[in-house]
Amino acid sequence: MDEDTVIVLLGASGDLAAKKLYPALFNLYRRDMLSPGTRIIGIDPTPMSHEEFTDHMKKSIGVHETDLAKKCARFCEICHYITLKTDEGDKSFEELRDLMESFQNKEKQQHRLFYMALPPKIYVSVSEQLKRCCKDEKTVSRVIVEKPFGRDLETSIDLHKKLAPNWSEDEIFRIDHYLGKEMVKNMIVLRFGNPMFGAVWDCNHIDNIQISMTEAIGTERRGGYFDDVGVIRDIMQNHLTQILALITMERPGSFSAEDLRQEKARVLRLVPPVDIKNTILGQYSKSADGQKPGYKDDDTVPKDSCCATFCTTVAYVKNARWEGVPFILKAGKGMETSSPPLLNPFRLPALAESKTEIRIQLKDTTAAMLYNTMHNELIIRIQPQEGVRLKMNAKAPGLELKTIATELDLTYKGIVDNPDLPEAYEALLRDAIEGDLSLSVREDELEASWRIWTPLLKKIEKDEGVELEEYAYGSEGPEKLKEFIGGYQYLGEKQ
Ligand code: BG6
Repeated sequence: MDEDTVIVLLGASGDLAAKKLYPALFNLYRRDMLSPGTRIIGIDPTPMSHEEFTDHMKKSIGVHETDLAKKCARFCEICHYITLKTDEGDKSFEELRDLMESFQNKEKQQHRLFYMALPPKIYVSVSEQLKRCCKDEKTVSRVIVEKPFGRDLETSIDLHKKLAPNWSEDEIFRIDHYLGKEMVKNMIVLRFGNPMFGAVWDCNHIDNIQISMTEAIGTERRGGYFDDVGVIRDIMQNHLTQILALITMERPGSFSAEDLRQEKARVLRLVPPVDIKNTILGQYSKSADGQKPGYKDDDTVPKDSCCATFCTTVAYVKNARWEGVPFILKAGKGMETSSPPLLNPFRLPALAESKTEIRIQLKDTTAAMLYNTMHNELIIRIQPQEGVRLKMNAKAPGLELKTIATELDLTYKGIVDNPDLPEAYEALLRDAIEGDLSLSVREDELEASWRIWTPLLKKIEKDEGVELEEYAYGSEGPEKLKEFIGGYQYLGEKQ
């Protein structure tokens, strides 16, 4: 049977909807990736007329070209709005059900996708109301939830227990938007589609791997939210851990969602909790020129806050493939985001907001024969300037056997003309519409990930052996960082 899809956005006037969801849905529409019968329903407690709602959407989408503006106007025709207060019992949810039923076409099965862009504390009650009023056997219903999925292992298991009676595992899409990023998706192709990388993907050839995400901006305007969460829960337990899983997992039996998630969960279970002794925590203060505010200068942040805006730590994977290889995980806000030395540094846009990359340094096996070689290094730039670079040694032109450092550059912009890279949320929404769970985090992966981070988080909460170093906004991070990283990574070129 054919299907029609209704996408319900709960939290329609919120930040996430405006910044990510409306642009992503419009992009899917303009790429003809929404089936013709698709309807979008925004729901929110804020009273809005249809016009006010679609004006709000248009502003978020922000198209100016005439053709696209016309398309955007047609897109708005498939959008609807209901003022709904989630704390007013089932009445409002019944109104939602009636509207969805009015779109139902007898020839087709209706698929209902509920995107909960809501505060996590109401996930459970809203999901219960949705189950009672909007889920039935004639339709296929799925729910999308955003992080945080709990605060630690216990609360995450508890959240799952409360959602599970109403929504089965294959009806829940736990979004980690990093999984929708083009270069994160590329990890699979890079590893399993290129035997030359597959062959060296182990502790015999790889010396260390760094996964880092540094953001040029601080927590401006989000301090209130951030202070309760901190950088470990905000970025490391989810985005960086998912990247770690994709780098280290064994080749799945297939690339089906179940096989893929099985391997990610399996490898994450082999990662022991990270150790506070190998961890640096930091909080940014005013920029050196005094122009940019420190973290605690934000009015929404308590003046005595001990919340970490920077963390670096080292994880290990206890299996034969990765024995002894350190995975240096690093995340920080309010940091300098230019690249460490590269021959032809990736050019960053003037106002880079966030730089995420993976640096894989290989062991040196040429030292006995050749002088002045450098370590091969594979750099996967997730953003900005998506691409892959391989640092290599080559013979310097001339009669003598001298080496020079060179790079194989696979920057997307160089190999594809005008790449129209989809935004992460486009990929995530498209998969959720199609019922493909590959980019959603399965319960057992989530549990394995919390096992890695919960002991450290508990120590930090109890203030056991944790020092919080200050670093200036716009700097390279805490002072100890360079020495710390130098303990695991080759910095610069080997002489
Ligand atoms: C979010 C975090 O998950 O990811 C934010 O909550 C962070 O703090 C953001 O800024 C970064 O995402 P992106 O896609 O801009 O790298």
